[in-house]
Amino acid sequence: MTGFALDSYFRPADRLQDARLEIALTNTGSEELSSFTLAYTSLARARPGARLENAAAITRVANFHEVTPPDGLSLRPGETWSFAIQGLTNAARHRLDGPKSAYLTASGTVRDVLCNDLEAPGILDTGERKSVPPGQVDLPLYIVPWPQTVAVDSCRPDARAFLVETASAQDKAAANKINGLARRLFPEAPAPFRFSGTHGLVPLTFQQENTLPADGYQLTFSPDGAALASGGTTGRDYGLTVLAQIAYGAHSDPDTYRFPAQGVIEDQPRFSWRGTHLDVSRHFRGPNDIIRLLDILAWARMNVFQWHLTDDEGWRLEIKAYPELTISGARRGPGCRQVAQLGFASSVYQGAYSQDMVREIVAHAASFNIDVLPEIDVPGHSTALLKTYPHFADQAETPDSYQSVQGYPNNALNPAMEETYTFLETVFAEVADLFPCAYVHIGGDEVDAHSWLASPKARRLMEERGLQDTMELQAYFMGRVRDILKGLGKKLAGWDEVSHGGGIDPEGVLLMAWQKPEVTRDLVDQGYEVICTPGQHYYLDMAQASGWQEPGASWAGVSMPQAAYDYEPSTGLSNAGKGALKGVQACIWCEHLIDNRLFNHMVFPRLYAVAEAGWTEPRHKDWQRFAALSALFPEL
Ligand code: ACM
Repeated sequence: MTGFALDSYFRPADRLQDARLEIALTNTGSEELSSFTLAYTSLARARPGARLENAAAITRVANFHEVTPPDGLSLRPGETWSFAIQGLTNAARHRLDGPKSAYLTASGTVRDVLCNDLEAPGILDTGERKSVPPGQVDLPLYIVPWPQTVAVDSCRPDARAFLVETASAQDKAAANKINGLARRLFPEAPAPFRFSGTHGLVPLTFQQENTLPADGYQLTFSPDGAALASGGTTGRDYGLTVLAQIAYGAHSDPDTYRFPAQGVIEDQPRFSWRGTHLDVSRHFRGPNDIIRLLDILAWARMNVFQWHLTDDEGWRLEIKAYPELTISGARRGPGCRQVAQLGFASSVYQGAYSQDMVREIVAHAASFNIDVLPEIDVPGHSTALLKTYPHFADQAETPDSYQSVQGYPNNALNPAMEETYTFLETVFAEVADLFPCAYVHIGGDEVDAHSWLASPKARRLMEERGLQDTMELQAYFMGRVRDILKGLGKKLAGWDEVSHGGGIDPEGVLLMAWQKPEVTRDLVDQGYEVICTPGQHYYLDMAQASGWQEPGASWAGVSMPQAAYDYEPSTGLSNAGKGALKGVQACIWCEHLIDNRLFNHMVFPRLYAVAEAGWTEPRHKDWQRFAALSALFPEL
């Protein structure tokens, strides 16, 4: 049982150096506490040189803080120690921005502390909450994303499922696969396809139609049954998924949704890339959760899963040549090389995927036409790697000579060391072997502008090559990484900063435009392949309303469900640019998403909004319809 409670209060100020975090630690146990330190993790961070009130000392690594109380302080049962930190690196805007998890160390023993949400003065503690209106459907069909053309005149209230009897073995197998998907997502509902019987069944026939694109399909409904024509197996699977949705809607909400009796649905996706990114470094999600998320992507007809496998907070992919990466590098907390961050501070937090697990996950994704794009985030965001193998840093570099935006000191792999490229060559060779995707995502984001400037090796390289600054060093690194990937038969994908410092030859390079909506246009103009994923609209860890009680971050702003739905990814592009845009992506960052209830609150319904932006032409979108359908969207 947790014997300690932590309350916290944010006191804003015009200047961050005056903003305060006030903390009250209460002993709710039955024994006196003395000679202790308090550790807590908080996204509202103490700035260097912060002023302490009623505390003796503070140290910090990124979000991890350790506070020493005034000399001789002890807490009897029921007593509270209050202290304050004046001077923060960033303002708090929501209730989860303060201490998330904490522990005490006393006599060498770690004791858990239960954290209450951050509170703020009344003026902040108001505001809107996430809200989705009841919405309205014009047609009684549950389909998401909405198809390009739906012309359905009448419905059949008597139907229960589709009958797949006169079909090839391959088409029956595909229907059975979609049955499996529907049964995993909705075990409470009947399966959409049966292979024998008559009662309440709508006969379904299949047809290959070469005039349709490989991912296009056409459904024709008549009193005799339904016919699915498709350009290829992907289009057939999408058509079957739409039929499964129709059946699920009719079962779950028969007053609103029905099976069509007469009509046509003609459909193909707007963009070839309809992605979802998931950060498993900040918080690990086990293979079952990944499989379920893939099932959700299949339901939403999304076709790329970007797996953010490494970051400062943990390396999650087994690399046979560097086994310590998923031992020491996947672990943080008391007694580990990496201190606690984010949630679960008092115990060792760990998790990693074996290569066998990865193969199973990749195969599952492929069976639903989803490509898995692996991300190994370098050269920045590499604390887990550098803590595991400190010899990859220039030993003569000044410690703490730069900090990332998340507060990690010296967290970028050094572009001036050959060891860096030998390491990456080995890692990428294993990655290339595991993931059939044509691209490997190498990160490239958020390298601090002072990185490597205190590394003698980097300085020498800058002199030799006439490189002016950190970003030009980074561009040199990117060129080398791109060559490594080329040698492995892979193309480079990265975040938009890959284009900085002069960038690299855009031929075959795919970049994710995340920092601002305008970056999509800028990168298209520079000739890169571009995925639109602006933090302001498609980062699903941004709060869904401005209110303090709403969980989530807001450094990129608040992304309300309707605003996320209404965002048009080609905004600002010329006609040629519109044609060049490859697609859209939702990004699920997990600093705040420390359990699945929070995940669901944050991710839905916006994930489906991005799916619809990727699939449905803007003129066929309808917020009220989407809002109504959202009641039946499956979640994790
Ligand atoms: C990012 O959000 N750092 C890509």
